[in-house]
Amino acid sequence: MTRHFLRDDDLTQAEQSAVLDLAVEMKRDRWGAKPLAGPQSVAVIFDKSSTRTRVSFHVGISDLGGSPLIISTANSQLGGKETPTDTARVLERMVSAIVWRTYGQAGLEEMAASTTVPVVNALSDDFHPCQLLADLLTIREHRGALAGQTIAFVGDGASNMAHSYLLACATAGMHVRVAAPAEFAPAAQVVTDAEVRAAETGGSVLVVTDPVAAVAGADVVVTDTWVSMGKEEEKQQRLEVFHGYRVDDELLAHAADDAVFMHCLPADRGYEVTAEVIDGPRSIIWDEAENRLHAQKALLAWLLAANN
Ligand code: CP
Ligand code: NVA
Repeated sequence: MTRHFLRDDDLTQAEQSAVLDLAVEMKRDRWGAKPLAGPQSVAVIFDKSSTRTRVSFHVGISDLGGSPLIISTANSQLGGKETPTDTARVLERMVSAIVWRTYGQAGLEEMAASTTVPVVNALSDDFHPCQLLADLLTIREHRGALAGQTIAFVGDGASNMAHSYLLACATAGMHVRVAAPAEFAPAAQVVTDAEVRAAETGGSVLVVTDPVAAVAGADVVVTDTWVSMGKEEEKQQRLEVFHGYRVDDELLAHAADDAVFMHCLPADRGYEVTAEVIDGPRSIIWDEAENRLHAQKALLAWLLAANN
């Protein structure tokens, strides 16, 4: 069975930790490991816009000795013109892995079920697991061992980022809290899956509507845009519903004295977070962005080794 990375809990706690250890090594010795030498090609497909994911996969695959093939759906046969299955069967004859940013999780699942090469979720409507590997690496760098730390997500609980925080942080043995309006609560199945994982790792899961209850004493405070890609038509309604879920200095004052702030970016300053917080002394967003590179290189190397 080919190992894929479609959602955060596709890795066990031990595997997640091994990928993060490898990321630390790769960050220390950026051009040392060449598991894609040949060069082997990796297809990186985008149905949605991207800066960080596009650049970090392109540079990361090159660093590993491979050849990145960056594909926009608009200029390919994928996206209504050809099925994920047929696309996967063609690509697997030519590339060593497929990385895909798309809308529904079902397309990723179909592609993964149809191919012998690993498929990596570079963001779907439901999860953003590559971002979480970078976030966990960054938390380890700034705050040490992950298990036992408390992380609070404030904002759109039904978003890919909230779902990934639930699964990835529960996998890491962290205490993960989500504060979201009731109509934007995380999917019930994701909460259940996170609770099951937390029970195995010693972590815990809490979903509330009150931002202060989530942030109280937290070691890490995170948020994300209120208007994710694909939700642009709901913008006005969302701005009203999420009013009160902004991370500002007053909310952050409820966190631990040495708490850090993170955001996957891109950010809408003045909406989900104030400029004072995201550009302030507790913010570690630039390290978080850089760590996309190191975490994804480690993930690709780990997946290729696991599938050998
Ligand atoms: N955080 C993130 O995935 O950014 P991009 O949309 O720029 O890739
Ligand atoms: N939740 C955001 C994340 C962007 C990296 C979105 O899906 O647009």
